[in-house]
Amino acid sequence: MNNVTVHCTIVVSLVPTSRSHTQSHTLPCHLFPFSIQSLVFTLFFNLSLSLSPFISLYILLPFHRVLRFFYLLSSKRRRFLSLLEEVAMDLASNLGGKIDKQEVLSAVEQYEKYHVFHGGQEEERKANYTDMVNKYYDLATSFYEFGWGESFHFAPRWKGEELRESIKRHEHFLALQLGLKPGQKVLDVGCGIGGPLREISRFSFTSVTGLNNNEYQISRGKELNRITGVDKTCDFVKADFMKMPFPDNSFDAVYAIEATCHAPDAYGCYKEIYRVLKPGQCFAAYEWCMTDSFDPSNQEHQKIKAEIEIGDGLPDIRLTTKCLEALKQAGFEVVWEKDLAVDSPLPWYLPLDTSHFSLSSFRLTSVGRFFTKNMVKALEFIGLAPKGSQRVQDFLEKAAEGLVEGGKREIFTPMYFFLARKPDSNSD
Ligand SMILES: C[S@@+](CC[C@H](N)C(=O)[O-])C[C@H]1O[C@@H](n2cnc3c(N)ncnc32)[C@H](O)[C@@H]1O
Repeated sequence: MNNVTVHCTIVVSLVPTSRSHTQSHTLPCHLFPFSIQSLVFTLFFNLSLSLSPFISLYILLPFHRVLRFFYLLSSKRRRFLSLLEEVAMDLASNLGGKIDKQEVLSAVEQYEKYHVFHGGQEEERKANYTDMVNKYYDLATSFYEFGWGESFHFAPRWKGEELRESIKRHEHFLALQLGLKPGQKVLDVGCGIGGPLREISRFSFTSVTGLNNNEYQISRGKELNRITGVDKTCDFVKADFMKMPFPDNSFDAVYAIEATCHAPDAYGCYKEIYRVLKPGQCFAAYEWCMTDSFDPSNQEHQKIKAEIEIGDGLPDIRLTTKCLEALKQAGFEVVWEKDLAVDSPLPWYLPLDTSHFSLSSFRLTSVGRFFTKNMVKALEFIGLAPKGSQRVQDFLEKAAEGLVEGGKREIFTPMYFFLARKPDSNSD
């Protein structure tokens, strides 16, 4: 392990995560013999810490943070190391989601084969979307949680605003647009581990049902709902948003945050949402789309699109215009729509941009990702993370590159917003 990595391990452990606040960490006892592995792991980090010269800390951190670091190192060193170990163990033990640890490498290989860089075709991805998307989220969820916290989406951002604040504001915006009222029954389509669901439900005093086809994410979501006490009013349903297990006209409002981009066909998905929504009520979403600036004949543009597709488990990223057409075709009246990336004072891709450094979203920065890469490498090497973990990190890195390039060239947006209404008269 080189010095930069060691310094990064120090810095990252100073940055709190939502997970460390909300979850009591459990160590992976199934990784027998745990005590020996744990010992090796602790020794490994202790040795790295004692060998490391502190010069680059002066470059990386302001003075008071260096003092804070030495304070932590001297008086709280043991606690600090155990926190570091817990964070790393959490990532390692959850890597692969519901996939058997022995099968992770083969799942990575199968997942990669769906994509252009490994000879995959769009039609094959669409035909096998359930397998492709579920493999992706089993493999990537612990990395998402490690880097983003409980909400897996981008947000427009104001100057001086922390990433986490902007993410919450983006969720509140959706709730306000839908005009949510206390007691209403709301559906969150493609809910992840329920970060937005918990926030929106607490913000609006509504009961939110999270629909998700990934079993691992649902089990994490239920655990987090229990911890926050939201389990009394909110629940999860495991199902495909192309075939929802709800009667017609069931919900007072429906929203989808960066999720329906996984649908093999936008019309089919919007039509299902239309069916379960009560007449006169609204559906709002943030869609991942290629913008009008995307040129399909441009090879660079196609490469960026393919990077985002492999890095984010997508069958095919649609144009904003195609989503709009599909909404209308499904029967919705479009109240208003806009690419919110256009007016964002800070670019949405800033947290992933290699030229940007932030302590509050350190794990997403290039230094943080460099740290994670080396940590995963070490964990895989000593057998604490399953084989194939580094490969997951590699395609997530591809995603980050594609997203930043797509954002800079304005050919891609993760926040094409629309508010659409199911007409009163149509009881379809
Ligand atoms: C990028 S995550 C966004 C999660 C959540 N909306 C958030 O912002 O935190 C996309 C989510 O869509 C879910 N998803 C993808 N395809 C699905 C499908 N066919 N049916 C139900 N959920 C699906 C994934 O499992 C994942 O939870």
